[in-house]
Amino acid sequence: MTRVKEPVVSVHLPSDWAASGLVQDVRRGLGAQPRSLPPKWLYDDRGSELFDLITRLPEYYPTEAERSILHAHADRIALLSGATTLVELGSGTSDKTRILLDAFAATGQLQRFVPVDVSEGTLRGAAEQISAAYPGVQVEALVGDFTLHLGHLPTGGRRMVAFLGGTIGNLYVEERAAFLGALADSLAPGDSLLLGTDLVKSADRLIAAYDDPRGVTAEFVGNSLRVVNRELGADFDLDAFGYVAFWDPLMERMDLRLRAEVPQHVRIPGAGLEIDLAAGEEIRVEISTKFRPEGVRAELAAAGFHVEEVFTDVAGDFALTLATRTGVPAAR
Ligand code: AVJ
Repeated sequence: MTRVKEPVVSVHLPSDWAASGLVQDVRRGLGAQPRSLPPKWLYDDRGSELFDLITRLPEYYPTEAERSILHAHADRIALLSGATTLVELGSGTSDKTRILLDAFAATGQLQRFVPVDVSEGTLRGAAEQISAAYPGVQVEALVGDFTLHLGHLPTGGRRMVAFLGGTIGNLYVEERAAFLGALADSLAPGDSLLLGTDLVKSADRLIAAYDDPRGVTAEFVGNSLRVVNRELGADFDLDAFGYVAFWDPLMERMDLRLRAEVPQHVRIPGAGLEIDLAAGEEIRVEISTKFRPEGVRAELAAAGFHVEEVFTDVAGDFALTLATRTGVPAAR
């Protein structure tokens, strides 16, 4: 019987990462106009729970679409990538990853699994479970911010980095270029990337997915102010905000905002900030960019990746793109 290899968890986040990062982001985003808050602060315990509820809403198609692609094509993805190490960025509980892990393990090629997440608790739990379920696979979990700590990915063997869920759509185009470039720099020729992207579709379906009738998404987006209240002692009156979700057809992205229904003076002592919001003023909390396969290909090529194959679900709602790091870095 194969012995279970103990998971190794290494922490690359300074202990004040969340505290100091939030202060900076609040100063930069809420202190400027138009006002904004980066979406990464949506995922405290409550936010993660609400997101989990979103993934089970009938209107929110991406999770099931991506799962169905993985079920249909994980074997081929394992074969094409030839990877011996599977890395997952923003892995959370690694539940969809299990489909990939099963396929990689079945070929006998899998030696190592590297989940990367900012939440140490979630990561430790997932690392234990996966170690137990896949004896013989070394789990090397990394607590880190995937936009900052790509340089710490373990080297050796052939690696495939999975970045699922369409999370890349939360980044602005210049942030995507920086992220993909840094990822390419941290990989060797022959290593690959499996990238999940939501695809452009009718505005009706997108709005239904991001402004559900039960109001779960509104609650999720509103939670960002709750986080600022709790962490920075702010006095945002949550009831004074409405939720606005619209499709921006030029940028091809959903734009999710909170709108002050009445004028407000808000104190944010932890950030040394006081702001006046006019009635109707909005705070952008998230963008969720939708892609076209040609666009994904072009962004990947600019970063130094060559697309091997694009997998979509039957309805064509979501795409998983498998791309390899090319030998010669593209000029950028
Ligand atoms: C976490 C990026 C997959 O943009 O669809 C869902 C976040 N926000 N509903 C997305 C989200 C509102 C989600 N991702």
